[in-house]
Amino acid sequence: MTAPASQPTAPPAGPAARPDARFLRAVRGQSVDATPVWFMRQAGRALPEYRAIRERATLLEITRDAALCTEVTLQPVRRLGVDAAILFADITTPLAGMGVAFDIVEGRGPVIEHPVRTDADVAALRAFEPEAAVAPLLEAISLIRRESPVPLIGFAGAPFTLACYLVEGGPSRDFGKTKALMHAEPETWARLLDRLVTATIAYLRAQVAAGVETVQVFDSWVGGLSPLDYERRLWPHMRRLFEGIAGLGVPSIHFGVGTAGILALQASAGGDVIGLDWRVALSEGRRIVGGRAVQGNLDPTLLLGPWEGVEEQARWVLEQNARRAGHVFNLGHGVLPGTDPDQLRRLVDLVHDHGASL
Ligand code: CP3
Repeated sequence: MTAPASQPTAPPAGPAARPDARFLRAVRGQSVDATPVWFMRQAGRALPEYRAIRERATLLEITRDAALCTEVTLQPVRRLGVDAAILFADITTPLAGMGVAFDIVEGRGPVIEHPVRTDADVAALRAFEPEAAVAPLLEAISLIRRESPVPLIGFAGAPFTLACYLVEGGPSRDFGKTKALMHAEPETWARLLDRLVTATIAYLRAQVAAGVETVQVFDSWVGGLSPLDYERRLWPHMRRLFEGIAGLGVPSIHFGVGTAGILALQASAGGDVIGLDWRVALSEGRRIVGGRAVQGNLDPTLLLGPWEGVEEQARWVLEQNARRAGHVFNLGHGVLPGTDPDQLRRLVDLVHDHGASL
């Protein structure tokens, strides 16, 4: 796949282009020599070399320094032998460029200074201009493309998950304020989601122009919605988002957590690959998303226990896939703090040794 000719800065072709990398083949549903594997949240969290960098720079500082961002993105590629790199940023990264003041609090997550709860709050959000707002990150993408032996995944938070942070003002268990806005002020909700979709398309377009080879949309909190709310209050926005990125010339991964009851809706909204968490058997998830490639789906907490448990269930995930093309091995959610990087490395080897497609 190539980027449309109208892109001002096309992704670098030539030595760094690798359409035959097994990760990209699997994402496109093609056969592979070994099942590709990477881990959500593979950078940060588990790696001592990341902690060392965090001693002298905050997360926000890392994302605003192209060299540091490149280093942190490549750390897990070197140590773990994964088949893809994921750009080091946070889902909240583009919010600063929309005029939202926030901080990322250690061990807690993003905290928004002035939550967005009224029509006036939505109207005050600025249009997102990636070249002005995230220039160092875009520069990091071209540095990573030059240095990385494996494809680079760009990403963005999905509009519902971003809205949860914006409306709640921080992490939440039940998303009560967000859902209250959705139901009490449906027009304000629709305007907020519309702003977020527009910003996210611009953000992902800029990442692709700078060189990312796949994009993943993280809808981490969407599992909190009923299928009816998803269909009425979210689906049209997700559809517009995926239509907006469909023409960018790179494949997309659509990921969520706790999504067993809304997988068909998610898949119909878009995404070349659908993320599955561990609450659904991979074979069942594949059946629901009908012919689409899938990514997943080992329970990340297994990695906090003995290797035997990891091995047993990783083999089960591979058996569930039954050597079909279009499987990217991953955890069902991100690597948990406290995970031993050696277990991750062993898991990569196991997947490479035992998974493949026919
Ligand atoms: O390795 C990678 O996956 C790339 C980097 C990345 C980060 N955040 C860096 C980060 C990615 C892909 C994200 C996405 C993200 N951020 C999501 C979606 C994925 C998911 O896990 O559901 C969400 C919901 C967030 C919001 C967020 N950012 C939370 C809840 C937290 C605190 C808890 C924690 O430890 O992750 C953050 C902070 C954050 N983002 C860290 C990292 C490495 C924490 C460590 C630090 O402060 O250095």
